[in-house]
Amino acid sequence: MTASNGVPAEAARRHAELSQEIDEANYRYYVLDSPTLSDAEYDRLMRELRALEDEYPELVTPDSPTQRVGAPLITEFATVPHLERMQSLDNAMNVEDLLAWDERVVKEVGKVAAYLCEPKIDGLAIALVYENGRLVRGVTRGDGRAGEDVTLNVRTIDSVPTRLTGEGWPEVLEVRGEVFLTVEGFHQVNEAQAEAGKPPFANPRNAAAGSLRQKDPRVTARRPLDMLVHGFGAWRGGKRPDSQSGSYELMRGWGLPVSDRYRVVQTMDEVRAYIEYYGEHRHDTAYEIDGVVVKVDQFPLQRRLGSTSRAPRWAIAWKYPPEEVNTKLLDIKVGVGRTGRITPYGVMQPVEVAGSVVAYATLHNEREVKRKGVLIGDTVVLRKAGDVIPEIVAPVPGLRDGSEREFSMPTHCPECGTKLEREKESDVDIRCPNARRCPAQLRERLFFVAGRSAFDIDALGYVGATALTQPLEPSEPPVENEGDLFDLTVEQLLPIKTVVRDQRTGLPRIDEKTGEPKVVTFFANKEGRPKKIVHKLLQELEEAKKQPLWRVLVALSIRHVGPSVAQDLAREMRSMDAIRNASEEELAAVEGVGPTIATSIKDWFAVDWHREIVDKWAAAGVRMEDETTAGPRPLEGVSVVITGSLEEFSRDSATEAVQERGGRVSGSVSKKTDFVVVGESPGSKYDKAVKLGVPVLDEAGFRVLLNEGPEAAKNVTQSGDA
Ligand code: IVH
Repeated sequence: MTASNGVPAEAARRHAELSQEIDEANYRYYVLDSPTLSDAEYDRLMRELRALEDEYPELVTPDSPTQRVGAPLITEFATVPHLERMQSLDNAMNVEDLLAWDERVVKEVGKVAAYLCEPKIDGLAIALVYENGRLVRGVTRGDGRAGEDVTLNVRTIDSVPTRLTGEGWPEVLEVRGEVFLTVEGFHQVNEAQAEAGKPPFANPRNAAAGSLRQKDPRVTARRPLDMLVHGFGAWRGGKRPDSQSGSYELMRGWGLPVSDRYRVVQTMDEVRAYIEYYGEHRHDTAYEIDGVVVKVDQFPLQRRLGSTSRAPRWAIAWKYPPEEVNTKLLDIKVGVGRTGRITPYGVMQPVEVAGSVVAYATLHNEREVKRKGVLIGDTVVLRKAGDVIPEIVAPVPGLRDGSEREFSMPTHCPECGTKLEREKESDVDIRCPNARRCPAQLRERLFFVAGRSAFDIDALGYVGATALTQPLEPSEPPVENEGDLFDLTVEQLLPIKTVVRDQRTGLPRIDEKTGEPKVVTFFANKEGRPKKIVHKLLQELEEAKKQPLWRVLVALSIRHVGPSVAQDLAREMRSMDAIRNASEEELAAVEGVGPTIATSIKDWFAVDWHREIVDKWAAAGVRMEDETTAGPRPLEGVSVVITGSLEEFSRDSATEAVQERGGRVSGSVSKKTDFVVVGESPGSKYDKAVKLGVPVLDEAGFRVLLNEGPEAAKNVTQSGDA
């Protein structure tokens, strides 16, 4: 028998067979880097193919292996239709949604005997077509009707079999599943990116998507992509299973990657327990999961329930609150800090991430904006760092449309218009030098003066600090700067109206009803009489005058002088006058204070209006020296570190108790540390103490130290006092 072109059928069949084998061998050699044929065998196949083509030149087509060399490269992904439509899932965001879904199901088909629950993997949907057990195509989801042909790339995934094993598979099987990177694989990919000088991927999902859509399958082959099955589309021939779980077990038997985390349960209570379990063990899986998918297990019921245009009625996705989301970066603005530092921050389309709505995130400085490569208008990946502080992780460059623009640092202060400066050429930060009059700096400083690490005045929050420095009426603010704080009177406070500002950005808040900036009378009620806060404020100001010297020092906002340095200074120098009159050398000689800090202190006191602040506070009765304890100083020369929370002491009162007795409290454990005091849930400082053999005291031991001194305390330590 001959084919129409005069080539015998047997020769044509053999040609096709050889071509396929050689293609496969080429692929394994060039793309997967794991040849399965020896060179000799490969040559033999090639020779046979050439011989056939010599005899029947009609067989020489452009895609014959004899006409091509090397690895196949994808120039463009062809769009191919899915054998059956790929749908999406409806979401349940809360228990009501979930129960409502179940109610609809039960109403339609009666009691459901079995629900299948499985993790919802945060990856990309894929359809794999097996014909007679051979993988012939891998297609991305696309729009659900047709997707991109990524066959060559899919074949590089280790867990995807190119041939099904076992028996009983249908002639055509369209396997559906999720392609993903494990978290570890993701880090691996990013390390390789960094080594190659390329930008890192923002998350495993983006990295998986980028890897699957590589034009060069050799690149995909180096990415540790993985896949798990979550269903099937077309199933032609063979015996069909009668449940979702049945189909999983069949597919597992054919060598397809089926998760062993799925469970079939009988009741909605069990469904909820499954959901709860993964809510708590969300990070126990090697891959990222963003929810749980619940499916009615039996196929007859699935068929009766059918689908909407978008999603099947027999399944629902329970979504956990995302820890990372995409949102639009609408703008990059700058804020002015207490020391004049200009900080860029992102203004975003508000989104919910890890349980709260986020609209702003700091970008730290200009260098950070450049490093992240974000443009205004970008879609960005947003995450809660440590689940608290929102952080812009990276842009999603694939979603740019050309309208994005680069951010440039302003040249002038956004609040006072002063030309911004970089103090040193090498500085990363730029600052507003108008410390004396810049309204932003005044507001931020006053807020800080009242803050926890300074005078600790509860009644003076951000709105109050704004009101005192930027009132709408009267035109002159009652405080020119923080120097006037302790001289405030009720008469000054009552008339003040102010625009409410956002603490994070310093921008005016807008009143939802009027669309105008929100204005408040902060200290007076409607009748013009003092609100409770006035009395509280005046009382707290009175109390604050008795705060120890170190807190007064912190309140001055001297660069580099935070609580720890301030405590060192106060302990050694004892009074504000001593610090003010000390030479740079004397300051630098204080333990914990080096030359940089000494210069900063000297520079600060060299400014007239700075000294005026101190003078005004002193005149108002603020304590300017630490009372020397009359009695002995039992902890003279003793260095203590406190970690964890104590029952009867706040961190500050514990610190002060040590200092009153002449001791020193330090922030980090070293060989020089005499005692580490350990409360509830201590941090790594405890481990370090044990490692260095520093004596550890519990709260009772700490009281012994305070009351009876270091020798007595050594007898009650918790660990070997080596
Ligand atoms: S079942 C008819 N099961 O989530 C659609 N989907 O948000 C049936 N996904 O497009 C999908 N894990 O790509 C199913 N265990 C899982 C899944 C899962 C992740 C993806 C899938 C789907 C998307 C819907």
